Amino acid sequence: MAVIPAAIVLVGSALNAGVAAADDPPADARRGARIAYTCFGCHGIPDYRNAYPNYHVPRLGGQHAGYLAAALGEYRSGARPHPTMRGQAASLSETDFKDIAAYFATAMPVASGSAAVGTPPAAAAVCTACHGKDGVGLTGDYPTLAGQYADYLEQALKAYRKGTRQNAIMAGFAATLKDEDIAALAHYFAAQQPPLWVPLAPKAP
Ligand code: HEC
Ligand code: HEC
Repeated sequence: MAVIPAAIVLVGSALNAGVAAADDPPADARRGARIAYTCFGCHGIPDYRNAYPNYHVPRLGGQHAGYLAAALGEYRSGARPHPTMRGQAASLSETDFKDIAAYFATAMPVASGSAAVGTPPAAAAVCTACHGKDGVGLTGDYPTLAGQYADYLEQALKAYRKGTRQNAIMAGFAATLKDEDIAALAHYFAAQQPPLWVPLAPKAP
């Protein structure tokens, strides 16, 4: 008899831990796949582009779940200004964010392991502490950059520098970068392996 309440306490604390840390279960990736259906119109098409300004719609496959959920929250709050993404995020709940994030993150996660591809530009020395030498974010809070579209990375860095994309950490690192640094960094991280990938739309339910 005494064993049962102990087990319940354990399950309860595991659930609480899941709420506290965005990266953890009990996110429901299968539910996420269903809700994410509308996302494939843009994120499920290789080389699909944002019209104005012109850059690739980012790859989500294999990205860290914690970062994906945080990014959706930033669109909803306006810390990231993209109007379409703000509209998408506004219609979703925190639970939806986590379930969708789990779906994109876990189907085929990008894990660090390979050696860096090419010679990192000098400006990358400071970035690798969080984003890894091979572009794989060291924790769920740090987005993986490996294999992301270079033009998307470039516009993200420019948005931090300009302050239109608000993040205290990245504002500091982007502030002193010149356009040439940004181009070199974007190309370096985009070339890293294994890459983020474009998820293909699941069959209609
Ligand atoms: C109409 C096209 C379109 C649709 C539909 C769309 N997105 Fe996006 N998404 C974009 C674009 C463009 C960006 C890059 C915006 C920017 O520069 O911040 C983006 C960015 C993101 C990012 C940030 C990625 C990163 O690396 O920071 C996430 C996460 C995301 N979208 C998730 C979703 C989800 C989840 C859905 C469905 C509920 C969705 N998107 C639907 C076009 C779209
Ligand atoms: C102290 C840790 C840290 C360091 C060092 C750091 N970053 Fe970041 N980076 C972050 C975090 C956290 C985010 C997510 C911020 C957000 O939510 O917008 C981020 C986001 C990014 C993004 C946006 C990714 C996406 O998918 O939209 C790019 C690009 C980036 N960093 C490049 C760099 C580069 C290049 C450097 C070096 C000049 C660098 N970072 C240094 C922590 C760091």
